[in-house]
Amino acid sequence: MSKETLAKSIREIPDFPIPGILFYDVTTLFKAPARLQELSDTMYEMYKDKGITKVVGIESRGFIMGPILATRLGAGFIPIRKPGKLPAETIEESYDKEYGKDTIQIHKDALDENDVVLLHDDLLATGGTMEAACKLVQKMNPKKIYVNFIIELKELHGKDLFSKDVDVQSVLSL
Ligand code: PRP
Ligand code: MG
Repeated sequence: MSKETLAKSIREIPDFPIPGILFYDVTTLFKAPARLQELSDTMYEMYKDKGITKVVGIESRGFIMGPILATRLGAGFIPIRKPGKLPAETIEESYDKEYGKDTIQIHKDALDENDVVLLHDDLLATGGTMEAACKLVQKMNPKKIYVNFIIELKELHGKDLFSKDVDVQSVLSL
């Protein structure tokens, strides 16, 4: 598989959702059957030997590859959602994003100390979203946390936010 082909299938939209932001649109990658398959295969190869028991996806763009990957790995899928969406008891974290402020929640009983967790989202920008997600997952004391993105924006150095015991990888570094 060619990372260049995958990268080329991502549409770039300047000044969306606000002026000055270059938006990487992964819907064009998902639309192409061969690219979607390549991405799924690549992510599966990255994590197939890690003993992942739960894939945790972040609403909303982490809800696309997250369940696909969970199915391939034989793992469960856990949603992290925006406030007020999860029906049972939750814990939450607030954070600053590339554009704005937000809060995320997870069900309090979603994970336990026997889980090996793969946290997934489409994009690492400033890292605020995933840092908050990591804090939520860490509260449930899983055995190990892996973090995965489709795209990492290397100029923003979001990776620097994560401690060394968290394994952070992205498919594409742009
Ligand atoms: C985008 C993207 C990541 C996050 C990355 O989501 O999907 O979740 O921002 O930014 P950060 O690294 O600076 O935190 P967004 O909150 O726009 O919502 P969406 O996934 O529902 O579109
Ligand atoms: Mg998102």
